[in-house]
Amino acid sequence: LQVTCPSNLLAGKRILVTAGPTIEAIDPVRGITNFSSGKMGYAIAQAAIEMGADVTLISGPTALTAPRHCTTIQVTSAQQMHDAVMAEVRGQDVFIAVAAVADYRPREVQSQKIKKHADTLQLELVRNPDILAAVSNLPDRPFCVGFAAESDQLLEHARKKRLQKNVPLLAANLVSEAMGGDDSRIVLIDDHGEHPLPSGSKTLLAHMLLQHMAGMLPPSTT
Ligand code: CTP
Ligand code: CA
Repeated sequence: LQVTCPSNLLAGKRILVTAGPTIEAIDPVRGITNFSSGKMGYAIAQAAIEMGADVTLISGPTALTAPRHCTTIQVTSAQQMHDAVMAEVRGQDVFIAVAAVADYRPREVQSQKIKKHADTLQLELVRNPDILAAVSNLPDRPFCVGFAAESDQLLEHARKKRLQKNVPLLAANLVSEAMGGDDSRIVLIDDHGEHPLPSGSKTLLAHMLLQHMAGMLPPSTT
């Protein structure tokens, strides 16, 4: 399938994207993380650049090369990602939250490596800030796009998530169809309902998602 889209569909738009996992340190050599290759987020950043946008990518640790012609900020933890997003969000037209942010972090980070002793070890976890919710609650918020990766009951969870997060557009996928690979399958959910995209490469899906999104953006005033 050929991707044909006007290359200027997002010209002049400032777009902030989060991608990849976060890692929450336990001690100097260990952490808690989510499984995420970062491929979908990087594909979206790349596609947005190709469509003329001015893109800032805030990425957790991945094995990917940062796209060219884009400002990339590397972070490790959810708190760092949150702080980087909050520092960059002013003046952005669009925020696309693709990152698989760890929902919890260890309450305490041990400064020394934890040595193994007992047969069991308990970690106490505390909630991380919800970056997408924080952005979508800003008084002068950009157009917000969320992702939902679910293991089951995709549409049910995703519909609920879009309303809870108060975002106009949410891209839902099943972890079994998306994680790690170059291909994925996505259902877009907006006020008009559900729009399943054909399964394909993350590059193709990124273009289709951005094309759909471009039609939802308020007309430029500049
Ligand atoms: N998200 C975020 N910050 C977090 C958690 C999630 O910005 N601390 C964003 C993700 O990037 C994604 C959306 O919120 O765009 C949904 O993430 P998801 O993990 O599916 O939803 P949660 O609200 O965390 O709910 P749960 O994990 O319980 O399903
Ligand atoms: Ca989560």
